[in-house]
Amino acid sequence: MYVSNTGKILLFLLLLPECTLTAPKGAHSIWLLATYIEGQTPFPEYSYVGMLDDIRIMYYNGETKTLHPRGNTTAEDDVFDSSLLLRISDYIYTHFKERLAVAKLNLNKTDRDLVLQRLVVCELRDDDEPGQMITRDAVRGSTTDELQYVDNNFTYQGTLNVSPYVLKIHLEDSKHRHQFLYRPYCIKTLKGYLEKRRNQVNRKVKPRVRLIQKANSGSGGSRVSCLATGFYPRHINLTLFRDGQPVSDHEITGGDLLPNDDGTYQMRKSLEISRADKRTYNCSVTHPSLDNKLDVTLELEHGEPFKSVIPSVLTVLALMLLFGAAVAITAKKRRPADFIKNVSSVSTSEENMDSNSVLMCDDTK
Ligand SMILES: *[C@@H]1O[C@H](CO)[C@@H](O)[C@H](O)[C@H]1NC(C)=O
Ligand SMILES: *[C@@H]1O[C@H](CO)[C@@H](O)[C@H](O)[C@H]1NC(C)=O
Ligand SMILES: *[C@@H]1O[C@H](CO)[C@@H](O)[C@H](O)[C@H]1NC(C)=O
Ligand SMILES: *[C@@H]1O[C@H](CO)[C@@H](O)[C@H](O)[C@H]1NC(C)=O
Ligand SMILES: *[C@@H]1O[C@H](CO)[C@@H](O)[C@H](O)[C@H]1NC(C)=O
Repeated sequence: MYVSNTGKILLFLLLLPECTLTAPKGAHSIWLLATYIEGQTPFPEYSYVGMLDDIRIMYYNGETKTLHPRGNTTAEDDVFDSSLLLRISDYIYTHFKERLAVAKLNLNKTDRDLVLQRLVVCELRDDDEPGQMITRDAVRGSTTDELQYVDNNFTYQGTLNVSPYVLKIHLEDSKHRHQFLYRPYCIKTLKGYLEKRRNQVNRKVKPRVRLIQKANSGSGGSRVSCLATGFYPRHINLTLFRDGQPVSDHEITGGDLLPNDDGTYQMRKSLEISRADKRTYNCSVTHPSLDNKLDVTLELEHGEPFKSVIPSVLTVLALMLLFGAAVAITAKKRRPADFIKNVSSVSTSEENMDSNSVLMCDDTK
């Protein structure tokens, strides 16, 4: 199956709900998600993705040491200083190499693949001043340490198993780079991209919403699904009603936010009901693009049996994860072949939604 270059990188990004970074209202940010993999995998040893809010703006391949901008690149040639970015890329690579040495001291020899990740976020507040900057490191999907830079104040939290002396040197160096290189560069780049892409990041696109019922041949009952797709930004509230009362969360499956490949999002919530169930179902959606809530009533579907694709996907790999973001990896103790097998580009067209693809990783093992 086909997995795009960017797709590959997305595989490394998982949503860790407990580690959330939330941007204040009105703020915009640049995100850099870097991954270093040691071991036999089909992925570049070192690579990263750069984003403006949830919009991919570039991909870096550490094997070829090349930057691949995304989008209207001719208009954005002057937005970032690529020679400086390549230098920063090398710093991050060196950092990974150092981390690797530390990580190996604490790991079993039998563990074959080792994945290190770094997330860097810088924010521009709506008053055009730099907000927080965060640099978070992870080994095998668990955060090891984090440096936060707000105003001119650094806060460091970490569990690195190194001597205080080594840590101090490392930190001084890191703070210096944040102050004089990373943040000024990140903010300047962010301002440049915002100038070019303001309409894209501030756009509001209405969801298309449907409430459908399909027979479930397995149980003899049926499944009621409320689907919203094509919306932007990603914030949405989607509620299923039964006889006018909200259906409680524990009865509902789905609810994951999934990306469409045009940069919009989709969400689906489903409910299994019995054949005898004659109650009425509604679905209600609120979204920043809508002045009022949108109520949708049930339509009956004939046709193919329901294919339960999305609910089986526990782990959704996508850009939106950045918002709950943290860095994690699915490659744990998995052979490359398994790794690939678990990756698929799933079409949602079985629900007559768009034929947009979403990249997912079935992490049920
Ligand atoms: C690319 O940017 C240029 C300059 O801003 C603009 O004229 C052009 O329409 C853009 N092209 C696309 C495909 O967005
Ligand atoms: C190494 O592996 C052994 C056996 O699987 C396990 O008991 C031990 O906790 C592991 N040590 C570390 C540091 O992961
Ligand atoms: C720096 O941040 C820490 C943690 O947020 C806070 O306790 C401390 O007072 C701050 N120091 C200054 C000088 O702002
Ligand atoms: C459900 O749909 C019915 C019929 O359109 C409507 O009268 C009712 O207000 C809706 N209920 C909710 C909670 O949206
Ligand atoms: C969703 O509901 C919560 C709680 O009622 C509300 O604070 C939030 O603004 C809503 N979000 C949207 C996008 O409507």
